[in-house]
Amino acid sequence: MENTTKWIWMDGEFVPWEEAKIHVISHALHYGSGVFEGTRFYETENGSAIFRLKEHTKRLFYSASAINLPIHFTEEEINEATLETVRKNNVSSGYIRPLAFFGEGKMGLRPEGATPHMIIACWPWGKYLADRPIRVKISKYIRIHPQSLISDAKVTGYYVNSILAVQEVIPQGYDEAMLLDFEGNIAEGPGENFFLVKNGELHTPALGSILPGITRSTIIQLATDLGITTHERKISPDEIWEADEAFYTGTAAEVTPIGEIDDKKIGNGEEGPITTQLKKVYFDTITGKNKKYLDWVFTV
Ligand SMILES: Cc1ncc(COP(=O)(O)O)c(C=O)c1O
Repeated sequence: MENTTKWIWMDGEFVPWEEAKIHVISHALHYGSGVFEGTRFYETENGSAIFRLKEHTKRLFYSASAINLPIHFTEEEINEATLETVRKNNVSSGYIRPLAFFGEGKMGLRPEGATPHMIIACWPWGKYLADRPIRVKISKYIRIHPQSLISDAKVTGYYVNSILAVQEVIPQGYDEAMLLDFEGNIAEGPGENFFLVKNGELHTPALGSILPGITRSTIIQLATDLGITTHERKISPDEIWEADEAFYTGTAAEVTPIGEIDDKKIGNGEEGPITTQLKKVYFDTITGKNKKYLDWVFTV
C-alpha cells in the first residue's frame, strides 16, 4: 500500500503500521459492525491542524451508539489520541481514519460479547476526486432506506451501498456516482453531499436519508456568512438540469464542482462563480487563514 505511516493508535497504544492486526473471526469483518470517520488535516501557519476534529469524534460516538458498540475511551481521549497520531507520524497534511468495531470473541448476529476495538490511522492523501468539474452518473442503486438502517450513522457495513454505486458508474467512464433516495429524490454521492446553485441560492437535500456531512454543515455556515441562503429540501432529479451550478462536498472530496450529470451539462459545464467563491473560503477555513473559524482548526 502506498501512503502508509509509521504508527497506528490501537486500543490506547501506538503499534507499528505492519503490526496493527486483528483476528479473522472478528464480528465486523463478517457483518459490517464497525463505525468510522474520515477526517483531514492541513498545513497552517501554526503547523498541521485537524479540521473539525471535535465534530468528527462526536459523529463517531453517535455512530457507535447506533449499533450499541462500546468505545472504552471518552471523546476527549479520542481527540487527544487523534492529535497524537498525527504528531507521532510527523505528516504535515493528510487523512485520518478512526475506526471502532466489534472484534473477536463472539459469532452470530448479535454482537454483544464481541470485544470492541478502536484504531486511529493517518496517512498523506491528496485529492480524492478530479481537480476539474466532474462527470457524475445517477446510479441504479438507491441510497439505504432510513427505515432499514440508522442512515445518519457512519457504519462500515452501509458502505457496500456506496461501493456498488462506484463499481457501476466508474467503469462506464464517469468520475463519480449519485444515489437517489427511496422516493426518487436526490440523496447524495457515495461519499459526498450534493448542492445545487440556482439564482444565487444554494439548495441541498434535507436530512433524513443522507449522512449529515460535516463539510455540508461547514458550507452552509460559510454561505450564510457570505449572505448566501441555503434551502434544505427535497430535490427531484429533474431540477438539476435547470441548475446554474452544482457541486459535491465531503471531507475527502472537499468542494468538487460537478460539470455534468447523466451526460447533460450543468450550466455551461464549467465551475460556476458561487462554487469558486465557496471553494476559496472553504480552503481558507481548513488551512486556518479564515480567522473567524479558528475554533474549527485543531493545531497538532
Ligand atoms: C455517504 C457519505 N455522504 C457524505 C459524506 C460527507 O461527509 P463529511 O463532509 O462529513 O466528510 C460522506 C463522508 O464521510 C459519506 O460517506
